[in-house]
Amino acid sequence: MQPLTFVHISDSHVMRDPTRRGWERGPSLPGARALVREIEALPAPVAFVLHTGDVNHDPEREDEYRQSLELYRQLSVPVYFLPGNHDRNVWLQRVLRGVEGPGPHADQELETGGVQFLLLDSSATDAGGNVGHGQLAPGQLAWLEQRCAAQDSRPLVVALHHHPLAIGVSWLDDLILLNGDALHEILLLARGRLRCVLYGHIHESLLTLRHGIPYQSVRGSWFQNRTWFGQETEFPEPLQWPGYNLVTLTEQDTFIRHCRVRL
Ligand SMILES: [Fe+2]
Ligand SMILES: [Fe+2]
Repeated sequence: MQPLTFVHISDSHVMRDPTRRGWERGPSLPGARALVREIEALPAPVAFVLHTGDVNHDPEREDEYRQSLELYRQLSVPVYFLPGNHDRNVWLQRVLRGVEGPGPHADQELETGGVQFLLLDSSATDAGGNVGHGQLAPGQLAWLEQRCAAQDSRPLVVALHHHPLAIGVSWLDDLILLNGDALHEILLLARGRLRCVLYGHIHESLLTLRHGIPYQSVRGSWFQNRTWFGQETEFPEPLQWPGYNLVTLTEQDTFIRHCRVRL
């Protein structure tokens, strides 16, 4: 295969009021705009951008996604969006993906440069609307298992919003993907070709290795956390610059470069 490079970003939390100080962390648009400018000016070509969710911040109307559409349209490569716990997945599918009759889950399968990408919609709702933790429905796990168990030699990348495995940080582990262990058991079926599992949600760059599978998150586009194993309360990272990861797949290797943008 030819080397394939793409950009992983997450958690832009675009708000309807650009001056709104969500959670007292400042407006979210400057970081998202800085990332778009940086990605567009990269000195080496990238095939696409993967956004792993919390694209918008608790939108109340579908047309709030137009703001994100206008922002990411400035990129000259395709952008693939996943919903997070602050998104509304049906609105995201309609506006950002152009899907006319969206289903209840925004899972997506793609192939680029001979690599298979499985994007899993981990957003979950209860009677009151969206909830913070994530969950994959039985049908979604079956969809994934069918693909992971198949005879397939293509390199595989899996992406979702929530962290599937506990990270040892209690206040974030309250917001985990509830059935991450079941997800991991399925992913083991494809261990020989699974290059990485990419996620956002925790607003920090963290690598977890379990049974040889790398689970890699990316810094937020809006605000950064600093965590450590056993942490019980939130701690902001001193340098609040947004980040992105440059992921390169070659025949043998997987490279994940951690980059930051000065604000
Ligand atoms: Fe987020
Ligand atoms: Fe999130």
